[in-house]
Amino acid sequence: MPGVGSLCHHGRVTAVDRTHPIAVFDSGVGGLTVLHECLVWLPHEDFVYLGDTARFPYGGRDADDLRARSLAVARRLRDDGAKMIVVACNSATSAALPALRDELGDAVAVVGTVEPAARLAAAATRNGRVGLLATPATVASGAYARTLADVDLTSVACPKLAPLIQAGGELDSRVVALVDEYCEPLIAAGVDTVVLGCTHYPLVRAVLQRALGRGVTIVSSGQAIADEVERQLTERDIENDTDRRGSYRFVCSGDAGEFRALAARSLQLPVDGVERIDIEEYVGVAGRAA
Ligand code: DGL
Repeated sequence: MPGVGSLCHHGRVTAVDRTHPIAVFDSGVGGLTVLHECLVWLPHEDFVYLGDTARFPYGGRDADDLRARSLAVARRLRDDGAKMIVVACNSATSAALPALRDELGDAVAVVGTVEPAARLAAAATRNGRVGLLATPATVASGAYARTLADVDLTSVACPKLAPLIQAGGELDSRVVALVDEYCEPLIAAGVDTVVLGCTHYPLVRAVLQRALGRGVTIVSSGQAIADEVERQLTERDIENDTDRRGSYRFVCSGDAGEFRALAARSLQLPVDGVERIDIEEYVGVAGRAA
């Protein structure tokens, strides 16, 4: 609803309206695979991307830690006036989506990764055997197992893959060996569809496809999320004017120069500047839903 006001924890009133940006966040560069799809699909919207690089990786953290951190990030984004928050991280979505929706209430829409990706996988499988590659946090949460209850799901936790991708080195034999190791149980289980349950993994999609073979359908959440964002913008009547060209900008909690270099390689669109921001002051501060 345009013009809805929400009281932030600093006591300022933030208005949510159609001209405000959509915020997308992840622990690092993985969420850029989601931002990429959103920028292509919704070029008339403004976006702000937050990489919580000071706390990377999320994938080895426990659920309480991930919830606290995700709430802090979301409070910051809400106070900056985001009209919608896209949790472009499976680890954060798995641990924190209900808590985020509770805290942000109706004023700010929250879109997560698990449901859109699971829906695509359920539609794609022909033999009912689906594989999941994800961080230890996402696998341990059981979020995909619950959402994909009607298929035979084989899950593989990949603790080393997102850190290797985030490190930003060349795609070399180490990546291939690691991917081969993580895909092996999925091949043994005869899956015909694999969910990339971490937003970093599409950045090594070609390596994954070669390991799995061309008969396996790889599903990632990017396009499904872009569709869901559009659906919610329409439903809430907060879509920006479609005849404009939107902008996008980047913030991160760690080293800005390092993040810019990584983002420029991953996004396939120009990355002009990155601003370093502080999230610590938002940790443990209860917010107010509108
Ligand atoms: N990109 C994040 C996800 O989708 C995880 C990477 C990390 O471990 O921080 O789960």
